[in-house]
Amino acid sequence: MAKNGKKANEMWGGHFSAGPAAIMEKINASIAVDKRLYSQDIAGSIAHAEMLGATGILQPKESAAIIGGLKKILQEIEAGNFPFRTEFEDIHMNIEARLKEMLGDVAGKLHTARSRNDQVATDFKLWVRDALDALDAALQDLQAALLERTGEHAATILPGFTHLQTAQPVTFGHHLLAYVEMLGRDRGRLADARARLNESPLGAAALAGTSFPIDRKATARALGFSAPMANSLDAVSDRDFALESLAMLSILATHLSRFAEEIVLWCSDGFRFITLSDAFTTGSSIMPQKRNPDAAELVRAKAGRTHGALVQLLTVMKGLPLAYSKDMQEDKEPVFAAFDAMQLSVAAMAGMVRDMRVNAEKMLAASLRGYATATDLADWLVRELGLPFRQAHHVTGKIVAAAEKKNCRLDELKLADMQKVEKRITADALAVLSVENSVKSRTSFGGSAPANVKKSVVTARKKYL
Ligand code: ARG
Repeated sequence: MAKNGKKANEMWGGHFSAGPAAIMEKINASIAVDKRLYSQDIAGSIAHAEMLGATGILQPKESAAIIGGLKKILQEIEAGNFPFRTEFEDIHMNIEARLKEMLGDVAGKLHTARSRNDQVATDFKLWVRDALDALDAALQDLQAALLERTGEHAATILPGFTHLQTAQPVTFGHHLLAYVEMLGRDRGRLADARARLNESPLGAAALAGTSFPIDRKATARALGFSAPMANSLDAVSDRDFALESLAMLSILATHLSRFAEEIVLWCSDGFRFITLSDAFTTGSSIMPQKRNPDAAELVRAKAGRTHGALVQLLTVMKGLPLAYSKDMQEDKEPVFAAFDAMQLSVAAMAGMVRDMRVNAEKMLAASLRGYATATDLADWLVRELGLPFRQAHHVTGKIVAAAEKKNCRLDELKLADMQKVEKRITADALAVLSVENSVKSRTSFGGSAPANVKKSVVTARKKYL
């Protein structure tokens, strides 16, 4: 018994005579966070116990008893009957302590040829792998939602912007396909991270490997890893899989925040390109007319948390000497937070994409403002009159100025008004000023023409769904 009346932790055994200070227990415990690893921890322990039995390191009946106990613990946790205890610090020791309560001393044999260092690395990798798989499915569903709406809006015209200033007319389907492509790259990064992650740390033990005749290939196989990690020091020190996932999530968060910002803009009075239903908006307690796109705003904000998580873990890991240091216990919170934020955000975006009503007439009206077909006129001057593009640009600029002066659209100008600027312009030029003809003409590979969009939907469906 210690001065503070607490018994030494049984897991450290003989060398300790006193329990930790209350504040030590508080700073040291991670159970509140890492209990989320319970199913991975039990899967890892079962694989380890099976291997200990198969290699003769444990007797078959010892290994069987341990596996039976672990399965019961899994049921207890899933039924909500498991007593998570701070004095046992983390998920690994909570489960082992419970196993000891159930089985007595044989439970202590589970930790043969293993350490919490390889155990936690294994658990965490398994968790991240599951989270990547769940996120990939959600991303695929968001792509599916976008492709549904793309098919409906292959020919719906809206202004394309640069600098948020009207640039050229594009199609709404083409705009949505831009996000399908971005998410495709996110899924590519996810797949890369998953493939690189998929080697097993289990059996590295504390840092140096073990003198027991373990079979690391067997445990790797049992847990769905492609191979054991080659170096025991690296295996327990590596958190690249978490960092790489956070980097992937951070880029995704940036993509989603851009899309969310467009949804916020499109819902605003200045645009009204789309309307979200009651299902994805909130009202105001004071202004009865309000319909706020809160879900989109929150997705936009989740980038803060996600980018923060990446910087948080990079900062924890930088400068750590090999092999394990307790600093690394701080790895889980940012990873859980970022995956939670992105899983939720992707689902919310899919919900909004399916929910939004597209106000095609507002989009069209906006595309008729802002001289969106000026480039088409300049291109006509190049094509038909052989003007160098720079000169055509200059001529068109003067024609835009004439329209501005008359306060009319380009296609409302009289031919004579244009001929005052360039006398060789013919009535043929008027055709290129319509936004419909403008988008139809954008048939270059990857361009916005409705015909392209229809083809791209088919290609994207094959590639991503
Ligand atoms: N809870 C610890 C973590 O998450 C487990 C590993 C502890 N290892 C140790 N040698 N103290 O990192």
